Amino acid sequence: MARHWLTIASPTTEAITNPLLAACEDGYVPDSIRILSNPTVQDNVSPIVPFLEDLVDDIVETHHEHLRSELPSLERTVRKVTRVHGDTHPELEAIESEFLSLEADVTEHIADEEETVFPEIVTLDDETPRTDTEAARIRDAINHLESEHDAAASHLEGIRDLSDDYTTPSDACTSYRNMLDRLQLHEEDMHVHIHKGNNVLCPDADALLTSA
Ligand SMILES: [Fe+2]
Repeated sequence: MARHWLTIASPTTEAITNPLLAACEDGYVPDSIRILSNPTVQDNVSPIVPFLEDLVDDIVETHHEHLRSELPSLERTVRKVTRVHGDTHPELEAIESEFLSLEADVTEHIADEEETVFPEIVTLDDETPRTDTEAARIRDAINHLESEHDAAASHLEGIRDLSDDYTTPSDACTSYRNMLDRLQLHEEDMHVHIHKGNNVLCPDADALLTSA
């Protein structure tokens, strides 16, 4: 993932460069730097790059495409393992139910992000001032995105708990082990997806909305 650095309302060049240098020394070297609402500084820096669009592209290409290829196949595996081992592992039925709910929510969520939320957020790249109505609509879209991530995280936690942290039973067959490994990988990827949305994209979009 590309690394970005966003600063806002820093009155001097040093107030911008010192934290940036400290971050670089700690190993976080950004690919792009964006400086907003810094009246004495912003005239002396390069024009803005498409910052949010870059983040959105990364989320779609890295996570949404993975979900679209992985979820249908993982669903077949979950259904098969539940059918074969459900009698001896009754928790599988609950795992299947939780997974199917998650799959339905996530499938709708990524379509919603691509068709509605992300196009709204990407418009902030141009830093055009927004009317109160426009700003409220975009903030609603951001809040909606975050609430859907919270719902997905709740399903993921349910699957983790039901599977006892993806612990493989002693009588598990290859398909059972494969299912648990993939459910765990799915959770890890979803947490990265959620992190990029909630901790990078949404705060940056909100900062741009505030500064416009
Ligand atoms: Fe998302």
